[in-house]
Amino acid sequence: MATQLKRTELIFKEYMDCNALMKNVMKMGRDAFIQELLDSGLKGRGGAGFPTGLKWKIVKETNSDVKYVVCNADEGEPGTFKDREILTKASDKVVWGMALAAYIVGAKEGFIYLRGEYKFLGTKLRIAIDRMENSIRALGINFKLELVFGAGAYICGEETSLLQSMAGHRGEPTNKPPFPVNWGYLGKPTVVNNVETFVNTMIIAEIGSAEYKKLGTKASQGSKLFSVSGDCCKEGVFELEMGMTVQEFVEEFGDGDTKAVQVGGASGFCVPRKEFANTIIGYEGIPTGGSMKVFNSSRSMYNILENYLVFFEEESCGQCTPCRVGTQQLLRGVRAVKRKEKPKSYLDELLKLANTMKYASKCGLGRSVGNAFKSIIENFREEIVY
Ligand SMILES: Cc1cc2nc3c(=O)[nH]c(=O)nc-3n(C[C@H](O)[C@H](O)[C@H](O)COP(=O)(O)O)c2cc1C
Ligand code: SF4
Repeated sequence: MATQLKRTELIFKEYMDCNALMKNVMKMGRDAFIQELLDSGLKGRGGAGFPTGLKWKIVKETNSDVKYVVCNADEGEPGTFKDREILTKASDKVVWGMALAAYIVGAKEGFIYLRGEYKFLGTKLRIAIDRMENSIRALGINFKLELVFGAGAYICGEETSLLQSMAGHRGEPTNKPPFPVNWGYLGKPTVVNNVETFVNTMIIAEIGSAEYKKLGTKASQGSKLFSVSGDCCKEGVFELEMGMTVQEFVEEFGDGDTKAVQVGGASGFCVPRKEFANTIIGYEGIPTGGSMKVFNSSRSMYNILENYLVFFEEESCGQCTPCRVGTQQLLRGVRAVKRKEKPKSYLDELLKLANTMKYASKCGLGRSVGNAFKSIIENFREEIVY
């Protein structure tokens, strides 16, 4: 018998009095609200899972006359489309979440870095921005928000290359440290958060940390939007509590013949059927920015792997050797094994290369190429070589 997934309806709940919530936070005080965020357990929804309260606290406490708030709406992870849905249906909550961050950390300017393909959302966002700016002015808060458009590079979703791109430079990651909280846009302390994270801060302002942390598990508090696609019985964006197993997810969304689920997009992990029951979706298992791709037995895992490798080879910014050369070699390597130009044992050499990339690459792109590679080779080797 199928287990019921725990659905929530917070992000897309129709009415939220953002103006009244901001007034409440102003009464409560900046430090008290940061404590609320810390108590709520909210972790960033962009994938890396950094505690949001801590990020805001560091920026607030960093001494600088100029600070910025940036919303990462680049949403380039294959299979992820939940931010588009939020920006379409809950744009007010996003811009108010940014105003809240600005009030807490002391920023007067902010930017929404919008994926180039989402340009059609520009007018809607501009209206939400104007509405928010007028309301907060009446509350005595001075905060200006601008839209910046990306140009289709996956790497520009990585926060440091996003900030480089915003400043008019090539969209390439910079070394961390320094982190954007200390040295961000134009070298000033900057809060960079995902679209969904900003909405969650407003939800916490509304329901409080005690209610919020009743959702999910101890390690993965709150609810999460999942972008569900592939061979499923229903696809789309769903808001669920974290902490479910892949088995529970498949019972609800699969087509009855699911052989694998790619959790977290191209940079995530491929979970095979035998692992469904003991793999948890959340920080205690596999964390995800929300992409859930379901594959049934008609799919070739070789094709899926090749597809991801082509993606990474194209999207690597080429700045560091392990990633630039590694992505090319992994792709050439699996193709060579498939064509029987290399022995089966060559896959083990490629696994070693993927492992080296994890430790030697400069940013999260190169470091995560090995996730899908390793999980597909290890679990579906017979589909790569036969
Ligand atoms: C290659 C790469 C692409 C990324 N793309 C996105 C993205 O599209 N949206 C996003 O919010 N975070 C993305 N991130 C994560 C950001 O670097 C950053 O951690 C995030 O915006 C912080 O916000 P959060 O704490 O609210 O999650 C990406 C990271 C990497 C390495
Ligand atoms: S890991 Fe890849 S994407 Fe990141 S800096 Fe190096 S080459 Fe660029």
